[in-house]
Amino acid sequence: MQRIFSGIQPSGIPQLGNYLGAIRNWVNLQADHECVFCLVDMHAITVWQEPAKLRSQTLTQAAILLAAGIDPQKHILFNQSAVSAHARLAWIFNCVSRLGWLNRMTQFKDKAGKDRENHSAGLYVYPNLMAADILAYKATRVPVGEDQKQHLELTNDIAQKFNHDYGVEFFPQVEALIPPAAARVMSLRDGTKKMSKSDPSAQSRIEMTDDADTIALKIRRAKTDTDTLPSEVEGLEGRPEAKNLVTIYAALADMSLAEVLAQHQGQGFGPFKQALTEVVVGAIAPIAQETQRLMQNEDHLVSVLRSGALRAQAIAEPIVTEAEKLVGFVK
Ligand code: AMP
Ligand code: TRP
Repeated sequence: MQRIFSGIQPSGIPQLGNYLGAIRNWVNLQADHECVFCLVDMHAITVWQEPAKLRSQTLTQAAILLAAGIDPQKHILFNQSAVSAHARLAWIFNCVSRLGWLNRMTQFKDKAGKDRENHSAGLYVYPNLMAADILAYKATRVPVGEDQKQHLELTNDIAQKFNHDYGVEFFPQVEALIPPAAARVMSLRDGTKKMSKSDPSAQSRIEMTDDADTIALKIRRAKTDTDTLPSEVEGLEGRPEAKNLVTIYAALADMSLAEVLAQHQGQGFGPFKQALTEVVVGAIAPIAQETQRLMQNEDHLVSVLRSGALRAQAIAEPIVTEAEKLVGFVK
């Protein structure tokens, strides 16, 4: 059975893009993989996080993943900082990875923007820590949204250079599992920007804890154009907001874009948004409700993460210790 590793930052409440790009696939992959799912709190602090909020968001996120169907008995769910192997391997990778490689990372460029000098060094070496997350488990498959593809290519470059430099075949190559539909869900306020849990406007995203009324309001306010829905998929080109809403509908209803358009062509956005609200509420509301229930027992959530961390450590520790020996550290 292949080992899966994936992570999500507890830097906010997960949104619909996280669900469609990642979480939903994590749940499905549990059937035929050995899965390690990680709340990457060390990645989260590469940009400032209020400590009390980081803690509560980590627990909320654990609750959401459990509510969505992650099984912490059969698989592993834990927070990154609880397993020191991540930090140790990341340091080695900081020394394997090249500045030239990191300079090409588009996520860093997007996040740092024009004010590069004022960002943390952690944000810059973020992709090296991500490579360490995956390779500390020698995981071979990584389910992520489209935006993480470049980081996984870098992971493979790091694994290859480590193997080459130390003359071993130690780290495997990893395969990105990017969903065929809705791998990049866009903001409800701007169809050219990706939906993000850290966008300053909460109206730009549907959060996994939103109730039905909030979801309805956000969809009603979502930006659209004045045209009706086209009959062909090509008719969505150049209409990013329309395309995004149809994509979300299709992904949640398990339909193709063409099938959605066949049902809704010629409709204005008023009725389509109502239909979309039903589909989104149908998918999100049960998860939000179960999340509320799980949140009432913080001790249980903490203990799920702790026991996950122990099991994660049992896999990562020998792999990272071996990597340290290969480097020449006395162990
Ligand atoms: P993050 O929110 O950056 O921690 O991302 C966690 C996972 O969700 C990663 O696999 C991302 O690729 C995925 N993801 C985040 N935002 C989106 C989005 N707008 N559309 C699709 N996938 C996303
Ligand atoms: N960088 C990823 C994101 O923001 C989160 C992440 C950290 C991750 N480590 C990972 C994803 C390892 C997959 C595998 O989306």
